[in-house]
Amino acid sequence: MLPETTMVELQGVSKRFGEFVAVENVSLKIQEGEFLTLLGPSGCGKTTLLRMISGFDFPTEGRVLLDGVDVTEVPPYRRCVNQVFQSYALFPHLTVAENIAFGLRAKGASREQIARKVGEWIELVALQGKEQHKPSALSGGQRQRVALARAIVCEPKVLLLDEPLSALDAKLRHSMQRELKELQRRLGITFVFVTHDQEEALTMSDRIAIVNKGRIEQLGTADEIYHAPKTRFVAEFVGQVNVMPGEIIGREGGDVLVRVREGVVFRVDGALLVGDCATVQVSFRPEKVHLMRTAVHGENVFAAEVVDEVFRGQTDQLFMRTASGLEFTVVVANESRSQECFHKGERVFCSLHREDVVAVKEW
Ligand SMILES: Nc1ncnc2c1ncn2[C@@H]1O[C@H](COP(=O)(O)OP(=O)(O)OP(=O)(O)O)[C@@H](O)[C@H]1O
Ligand SMILES: [Mg+2]
Repeated sequence: MLPETTMVELQGVSKRFGEFVAVENVSLKIQEGEFLTLLGPSGCGKTTLLRMISGFDFPTEGRVLLDGVDVTEVPPYRRCVNQVFQSYALFPHLTVAENIAFGLRAKGASREQIARKVGEWIELVALQGKEQHKPSALSGGQRQRVALARAIVCEPKVLLLDEPLSALDAKLRHSMQRELKELQRRLGITFVFVTHDQEEALTMSDRIAIVNKGRIEQLGTADEIYHAPKTRFVAEFVGQVNVMPGEIIGREGGDVLVRVREGVVFRVDGALLVGDCATVQVSFRPEKVHLMRTAVHGENVFAAEVVDEVFRGQTDQLFMRTASGLEFTVVVANESRSQECFHKGERVFCSLHREDVVAVKEW
């Protein structure tokens, strides 16, 4: 394996707009060829972070390094980055083909090179027949694809993408996700990708930075972020989660027994419970719960009633309640119509694997 090279580095970067802190003391290293996603709710500072990497905004504090060089004060056009803007920012007076060709022309590519590359990209983003159209004659999704092609065609070292797929319908979005990921791998370009779609982040990224109120709450692989969220915000932002307080009623080896309600006792790994504590927060993902009609005795098994059900296409969401009034949700796959289904009013048994239940002192 080649030694890793840091391509983008933020050192203690903050950005204030007057009194308002949009980004607070963010430090981050992004490796060459990495696909890093900034994931977070609206207004958390994702675009501001990108603008400081591209140079369209300057940090109030901290440094920005690109390929080992401090570029904190360097203007955007002298940085080895390209950006796909959230608002597309196409040139309105240029055609689709001219928009895509713009960067190549500026770099002094030959007519033949430009024609070939533009042709390739028109095909990649499925805009055949639209070459001579002006942006005003395109739909939002089509404009977004032109913006994507225009930014990537020059093969910059770093590409910053601000919600580049947000205007596409689900089908096109999924195919563009695959295309983009494949291209990024093939060209070895470092991607800093912004989205507030958790599924998109989980499927595309090498690593994800969860951003909340201008700070990075957690940085890790999709698996780490999903299965070992460090804060409640991360757990709730990336997928659904059931969280419930409980009390420790026993310890066995490294395991801890936590009583949540009458008849609901979990055996969990005590590794995350450092120090003394009597009460803890127990959490589990809705899709980790197995439902059964017949009683099974064992650990992490309890009875509950299905109080409501919602059809969600690939999955069904079930709202559950135990006799003691504990409420939680369960998600089951709609794999096959012949499969067992659980319906409103049914009493069932819920079971969880020990490793799918997480207990932390507090969140
Ligand atoms: N030029 C500015 N002047 C004042 N406040 C600003 C400015 N730019 C951004 N902000 C504020 O900084 C915060 C972060 O904005 P930013 O655009 O980075 O959010 P975001 O995470 O990209 O959100 P979204 O998902 O909605 O695009 C917001 O509260 C925003 O109102
Ligand atoms: Mg934004």
